[in-house]
This record gives sequence, structure tokens and C-alpha cells, in this order.
Amino acid sequence: MSDKLIIFDTTLRDGEQSPGASMTRDEKLRIARQLERLKVDVIEAGFAASSNGDFEAVQAIANAIKDSTVCSLSRANDRDISRAAEALKGAQRARIHTFIATSPLHMEKKLRMTPDQVFEQAKQSVRYARNLVADVEFSPEDGYRSDVDFLCRVIEAVIAEGATTINVPDTVGYAIPELYGQFIKTLRERVPNSDKAIWSVHCHNDLGMAVANSLAGVMLGGARQIECTINGLGERAGNCSLEEVVMAVKTRKDYFGLELGIDTQHIVAASRMVSQTTGFVVQPNKAVVGANAFAHASGIHQDGVLKARDTYEIMRAEDVGWSANKIVLGKLSGRNAFKQRLQDLGVQLESEAEINTAFTRFKELADRKSEIFDEDILALVNDESVTNDKEQYAFVSLSQHSETGEKPHAEIVITVDGKEVKSASDGNGPVDASLKAIEQQVKSGAEMVLYSVNAISGSTESQGEVTVRLQNSGRVVNGVGSDPDIVVASAKAYLSALNKLHSKADRVAAQG
Ligand code: KIV
Ligand code: ZN
Repeated sequence: MSDKLIIFDTTLRDGEQSPGASMTRDEKLRIARQLERLKVDVIEAGFAASSNGDFEAVQAIANAIKDSTVCSLSRANDRDISRAAEALKGAQRARIHTFIATSPLHMEKKLRMTPDQVFEQAKQSVRYARNLVADVEFSPEDGYRSDVDFLCRVIEAVIAEGATTINVPDTVGYAIPELYGQFIKTLRERVPNSDKAIWSVHCHNDLGMAVANSLAGVMLGGARQIECTINGLGERAGNCSLEEVVMAVKTRKDYFGLELGIDTQHIVAASRMVSQTTGFVVQPNKAVVGANAFAHASGIHQDGVLKARDTYEIMRAEDVGWSANKIVLGKLSGRNAFKQRLQDLGVQLESEAEINTAFTRFKELADRKSEIFDEDILALVNDESVTNDKEQYAFVSLSQHSETGEKPHAEIVITVDGKEVKSASDGNGPVDASLKAIEQQVKSGAEMVLYSVNAISGSTESQGEVTVRLQNSGRVVNGVGSDPDIVVASAKAYLSALNKLHSKADRVAAQG
């Protein structure tokens, strides 16, 4: 059996299914480029048939990515599979990932199909997909809760039709490491042609065991592909976290004995990019990428680490891309230095016009803030208005007044379709007053389901990064805004969410 472990990243598909984590085409493209720098083997770029937006995102990623295989999810029907193949046309290496539920519960209640119908549809879909691309992955959704005899029958048939990867999802995060590992082993032993495909694990984190289950699937079951996401992003409690599983395999190579292609030095940048894009903040004590993952507060630990690092550290912070906050640029930095820094950070802006806009923003920021950190630059380029000048709403200026004992008041100028409008409102605080002033103009009627502020580089001198999550008619979107003034950052985040709310097409849920 090969000792290469394939890392299949599904941040842009399963991760994006997390309520509020939906991303624009350009955001997805930026993250895909970072995943390529990380050297993930397969990027699941989206679910092409679910919406025009997702189709375009998969297509853009397929055209841009050269070193990783680009994959699209598709339900097990000809239309979805054709859409996936069409979106993937420009890819150097394309994979279609087709799925259909196989558990009694899903077949009966959700699909309303008999097992024989599901069996036929699975076979037919893999056959159809194999006529379009050479690399076809098949997933029996809710595989872990499926009847093992039926599952073996389906898997044997789809391998015979040419499926090259068999992925066994624990869709609802119900598995226990030993049992899941044993389950994969049983399937591999019982399916007669199991050696003709690579086996893959896909675990959700509902009981907090997605990483452990995935590793058990590899060690006990013999799987050689792990499906995972940056920061463990994903439906409900999320998916297996890429950074944890990768660092476990790397740090404990003595036990796992597996080869990985991942360039781990890009992990922290990827984590930040996903967190800033989706507004899903990484908890400080999160393994590998949390702010405290390499911090030692206790005197005994600090003393130990100073004397010999491995007293309390099993990994090196720099191996996953942690570096002390560096003043990378300032107001005297020129356009070339800025461009170079963007490149070092893995940020590729599409056009010279975008670089110019970003550089102008950088200069404006440098005028107000003497030290510009990598985090500031990432926040700046994550600002939608840098990469999209056709936004419906854009921030122009804001003034607000708040004083103890008085009702805060804000006056704001924004553009609506390029035309400047002014508005004013009182509120419970300056942020509330500013957002109410915007809402008075825009009248979105959206409900705010999350508002959070984070200091980008840790001190009061840093920029505030604000996430606003809005919900309207069943759609949930995130807006992120950053500025040294958190009231302005809040207004920008609110406008960014409104822009997404207005532009987002309806989508089909992957597990709907
Ligand atoms: O969790 C799941 O079952 C999935 C499939 C669509 C692979 O994400
Ligand atoms: Zn999933």
C-alpha cells in the first residue's frame, strides 16, 4: 500500500456550506491560490450545479490552478455531472466527485428511493462521469450509517464502473475512532475490487472527533486520502481540520509513517485568510493556528522553553508559518515593495487596476497608522471594494458623536449605485447609530445575526476588523470591514454584507 497521504481540501465546498460562510467568486479564487501554495493535492472548489455563482467559481479556479487537482461536487445525476465537467474544462487535472445517500434513513426519508434505485443511480452516474473525466470520486452520503452489505454492493459496482476514489463520509459526525477505522477496514476487505480505488475518509466534527476518526480511518482502515478544511470550517460543528490532521501526521511521523506533500509554512496564512474572509474567528486555544497555540504563560513553561524548546513544544511555530508581528511596510514604502509583499503573502490581485486601488488604500492606511503588519495588508485586500468596483453600496465618510449621558448620533455618506446619499440617526451607541443611519437609506429589512469586533494585530493601535452577519429571506451572508476606527469598520462591514445580500444567487444545498 502506498505511504502517500492525499490531502483533499473542501474548505470551498463543504466549508462554505457552513451557515454564513458563503464566499464570492474572487474570495474563493484567492483562497484556492493559497491552497495551491500549501500544496494540497486536491481542491474541492465548489458544487458547480448548485448556482451560477458556484459554477463560475469552480470555472475560475479550474482555469487558475496548475499544481493541485481541481474538483467539483455533483449529485448523482447527468445534469449535475455535465455542469461539473463543463466548469472543470480548463483544469490541468480535473476530478468529479459524485454522491448519493446510502443509509436507510436518507434513502427512505430524504431521497424516497429504494435501495435498488440508489444502486442503479450510483452506477449510472459514475459511468457517465467517467466518460467525461478520468478522475472520478464516489461518496455514499451518510455512508457510516449505511447497511454494510448494501454499501459493499454499491462500492463494488461503482469501482467496476471506473470510480478511482471511494470516499466514506461520516456525514453526521456519529463515528468513534476505533469503530470508524474498523468500518473502513471491513469495507476494504469485503469489496472484491477494493484495491482498484484509493479509499478516502470524510468526517464531520459533531462529537469533536473528526480528526481522530479520520486518522483511525487511515491507520486502522487503510484509507489514503483525508478530506478536510482549513480551521475545520464546515456544516454544523465543522469538518476534520486540515492543520490538525497534517501536523499530527508530520509531528508523529514515527507512528504514522506517511508522506505528505503539504508545505506547512503556509498554514497560518491560509487559516487567517479563511477566517478573515468568512468572519469565522479562530478560537485562541485552537490547535496549531490559535493565537495561543505556541504561547507559554506559566513561568515554569517559559523557563523550560528558554532552556530547551522541546521541554514544552512538540512543533516549531515557524514550521506552520507563525512569525512575530513584523513591521513590514510603512508610509514611505513604494508600490514595488507593496506588490512584493502581496506576492510573499500569496495574494494575487487580478489586474493592475486592483493593485492600484489596494496600493492607494495602503497609502491612506499608512498615513493614519505608522506600522503596517501582514495582517493589515491581508485585511486590506480582503476588502471587497478593492477587488470589485461595481458594488451597489460603498462607504464614503462618517462622523459620529458620543458623550456620557447623551444619545450617540451618527451622520454618514455612502454611495448607492455610484450616487452619493447622506443619512443620520441616533442609536444606543455610535456603531448602532451608524448602522441605523445606513439602514434608513437602504431599507434592507435584514436581521443582524452576528456582530463581532477583533483587533487585527492585538493592540489598541491596531485596525479593528468587524464581521456582520445578516439574514434575509432565508439567506445568510457575512460582511467584513476593517479600519483603525471601529465605527467606520462596522459601517464598511455592514455595507459589504448588504452588497452580498443583494448579489447572491439562490443555491442548492449539497445535502438537501
Ligand atoms: O458529509 C458528506 O456526506 C458530504 C458528501 C457530499 C461527501 O459532504
Ligand atoms: Zn461533508
